[in-house]
Amino acid sequence: MSQHKNSLLLALLTLNTIYMVQADSLNPAPDMSSLFSTSLMSSFPEDLEISGYCKELLFFFKQRYVTFVDCLILAARPVKVCQNCSSSYSMLQDIYRNISDQVGPGNESCRDSLLSSDRLMVVYQLYSNLQDLWTSSNCESNLTNDTLNFLSTLNQTLTCFEKYQLGNHTELCKSCKKMYGDVNKLYGRMEKNDTMCIDLEDAMNMTRRLWSKNFNCSLPRDETVPVLAVSSFMLFLPVIFYLSSFLHSEQKKRKLIHRSLLDRYSIKAAGDGIFSVR
Ligand SMILES: *[C@@H]1O[C@H](CO)[C@@H](O)[C@H](O)[C@H]1NC(C)=O
Ligand SMILES: *[C@@H]1O[C@H](CO)[C@@H](O)[C@H](O)[C@H]1NC(C)=O
Ligand SMILES: *[C@@H]1O[C@H](CO)[C@@H](O)[C@H](O)[C@H]1NC(C)=O
Ligand SMILES: *[C@@H]1O[C@H](CO)[C@@H](O)[C@H](O)[C@H]1NC(C)=O
Ligand SMILES: *[C@@H]1O[C@H](CO)[C@@H](O)[C@H](O)[C@H]1NC(C)=O
Ligand SMILES: *[C@@H]1O[C@H](CO)[C@@H](O)[C@H](O)[C@H]1NC(C)=O
Ligand SMILES: *[C@@H]1O[C@H](CO)[C@@H](O)[C@H](O)[C@H]1NC(C)=O
Ligand SMILES: *[C@@H]1O[C@H](CO)[C@@H](O)[C@H](O)[C@H]1NC(C)=O
Ligand SMILES: *[C@@H]1O[C@H](CO)[C@@H](O)[C@H](O)[C@H]1NC(C)=O
Ligand SMILES: *[C@@H]1O[C@H](CO)[C@@H](O)[C@H](O)[C@H]1NC(C)=O
Repeated sequence: MSQHKNSLLLALLTLNTIYMVQADSLNPAPDMSSLFSTSLMSSFPEDLEISGYCKELLFFFKQRYVTFVDCLILAARPVKVCQNCSSSYSMLQDIYRNISDQVGPGNESCRDSLLSSDRLMVVYQLYSNLQDLWTSSNCESNLTNDTLNFLSTLNQTLTCFEKYQLGNHTELCKSCKKMYGDVNKLYGRMEKNDTMCIDLEDAMNMTRRLWSKNFNCSLPRDETVPVLAVSSFMLFLPVIFYLSSFLHSEQKKRKLIHRSLLDRYSIKAAGDGIFSVR
């Protein structure tokens, strides 16, 4: 009886599955746009639509957004984002400020209507993504004298690379070594002092790769000298240890011999009855 029930259940399940598979293949997802053209494209009453002023702001936002993204993509590799796109970012920031903080004619604000009227919050999300990107680029880190020195030394190094790259690379390694060392040293110093804008970071990264991978030059990095010093000291540690323990044991041995000689003499002397032993 229960077996019969089970097989019936199985048959039902199978039928159901077949039906579902068929339904899937027969009815593809309905075309959303055709659906919306009939039911949602109708306009809402005037006071629910965004105003002319906000429409204008949205239009400017769009233009500046596209300009900035265009710039970002063109400057993506090798990174020239800070050099090329700072001005278009600041334009985008300005118009976003108009939307989020400022008021237009008749003290009208577009903050609520453009930024937070729905769950998706397209304008807010788009802007906030680019804002994060810009923050992580560190483009706002201040120019210092070190930065300027770094840029000119980097320029000299790259010029040197250009000059020698066609010939024998041994020549290049020898001639550009000093400049490369300088640029590395400067970079190390700047790196320690907090933020580094991505353009410089990337330029240094590429220069290092050129030097060691493309030109196969050895590394006169900052860290080489201390590392060598520490490791040679480490190498000598066992020698020092053995030497000192050797010397120490020699000293002990000498003391022992001295002591035993002394003992023998004093025992002998006691035997002779000249000295008394305690
Ligand atoms: C960056 O801007 C300069 C001029 O401002 C232009 O010549 C260069 O092609 C731009 N580079 C990129 C990658 O957009
Ligand atoms: C944005 O705000 C600034 C300063 O309040 C104003 O000068 C500018 O005209 C505004 N831009 C637009 C498109 O309304
Ligand atoms: C806008 O607001 C300021 C103060 O916030 C007020 O002095 C001014 O009269 C307002 N203008 C309009 C057109 O409401
Ligand atoms: C850059 O300098 C300005 C003022 O000179 C300062 O407010 C800002 O915090 C500095 N930025 C960084 C990243 O140090
Ligand atoms: C930066 O360099 C200029 C000229 O090389 C010099 O006059 C100035 O004092 C330097 N500033 C700092 C903070 O070192
Ligand atoms: C170095 O700077 C000079 C002048 O500013 C420029 O003409 C040259 O292209 C730069 N070299 C490199 C490798 O960037
Ligand atoms: C490069 O030049 C050095 C001497 O300047 C020479 O010893 C070496 O063989 C040369 N290498 C090549 C690939 O020409
Ligand atoms: C870091 O910057 C401060 C001033 O901005 C400077 O006095 C200090 O010497 C810098 N440190 C290094 C390691 O360059
Ligand atoms: C330097 O270049 C390497 C290799 O392309 C990359 O993996 C790394 O993230 C770069 N470092 C920085 C700080 O950009
Ligand atoms: C650098 O060295 C590697 C292996 O040592 C070699 O495969 C490569 O061809 C060399 N590159 C140049 C530019 O000499």
